[in-house]
Amino acid sequence: MAVVLLTGSAGFIGFYVTKALLESGDSVIGLDNFNSYYTPELKRARTAILTGYRNFVPVEADLADPDSVRRCFKEHSPDLVFHSAAQAGVRYSLRNPRAYQKSNLEGFINLIEEARLFSVKRFVYASSSSVYGGNTKMPYSEDDPVNSPVSLYAATKRANELIAHSYTHLWKLQTVGLRFFTVYGPWGRPDMAYWSFLEAILNREPIKVFNHGKNRRDFTYIDDIVAGAVAALKIDGLGSYEIINLGNNDPVELMDFIETLERFAGLKAVMEMAPPQPGDVVATYADIRKAQVKLGFQPKTSLKDGLEKFVKWYMDNRDLAEAVRRFRKG
Ligand SMILES: NC(=O)c1ccc[n+]([C@@H]2O[C@H](COP(=O)([O-])OP(=O)(O)OC[C@H]3O[C@@H](n4cnc5c(N)ncnc54)[C@H](O)[C@@H]3O)[C@@H](O)[C@H]2O)c1
Repeated sequence: MAVVLLTGSAGFIGFYVTKALLESGDSVIGLDNFNSYYTPELKRARTAILTGYRNFVPVEADLADPDSVRRCFKEHSPDLVFHSAAQAGVRYSLRNPRAYQKSNLEGFINLIEEARLFSVKRFVYASSSSVYGGNTKMPYSEDDPVNSPVSLYAATKRANELIAHSYTHLWKLQTVGLRFFTVYGPWGRPDMAYWSFLEAILNREPIKVFNHGKNRRDFTYIDDIVAGAVAALKIDGLGSYEIINLGNNDPVELMDFIETLERFAGLKAVMEMAPPQPGDVVATYADIRKAQVKLGFQPKTSLKDGLEKFVKWYMDNRDLAEAVRRFRKG
């Protein structure tokens, strides 16, 4: 059984990956700074579930502080690192560039530097489909050029991949970058459309539909992502430097997505059509052949089934959903 340092354990994806590792018997050191990008109450609620496992050790620390990161490695000597923490979000990066500098650049370097000094066996980190920028060739393949990010968020994610490359080259640190494609599900992210649209529909508020609903996203259900993420950490036979897409391989137009949400919410959305947003890409669509071969990855959840589960979870957790809403409204 391994000792895994998992950053961003209070976040959406980190919470689920931590839970899966704990259930398989690994020890997890879960590091998070509980920042207020969205309500910390949701992060605390996820963490409360994790603290129910005796093999979970929570650490409240900021990755941008090199001393805290060093202390964490010294105290826990992890065998493996799963780096999920980041300042996420494309739109937020237009107004808050420094948050991306701190968490995604300084934080990433602080972590990978300790990982190589402590000779961890594998360093897996969250990248993003956003690195494909304005590419028009579909589906997006790991071999496609990724030199044209269209947001600062995407640029920092691409920078992570390049920094990882230099660490693999210089220090023989095995690194695996996972390019996640629009992940959704219960306990999800309030800033993402599936959550904010459902909230608006239920409260009969208008939703802004950018690019007139023509954007297409490869929505990927959280359980499918977790299966790929755990394999990336554990499976034998990976190369020393890997970049792997984890997506559903089935893009859906925003209007179809809204109709499915309406069906499960039992209400019609009030829509305000809007032009494309700066930084947004028109479509994402993952070529997953590499993930299939290297990680045995096979997404199993359709958008319909996944959204049904999300809406049910939301309805069963109205207190938390209300806390998210209060926080959003300031
Ligand atoms: N959810 C998606 O659709 C998606 C898609 C592509 C890539 N990703 C990437 O996957 C990872 C996880 O995303 P998520 O959806 O779980 O986001 P999230 O915001 O829910 O989780 C990120 C967590 O990291 C923590 N964090 C941020 N900066 C930190 C710092 N400096 N020190 C310590 N903790 C810090 C936050 O408090 C949060 O709990 C991120 O790297 C994100 O960029 C997510």
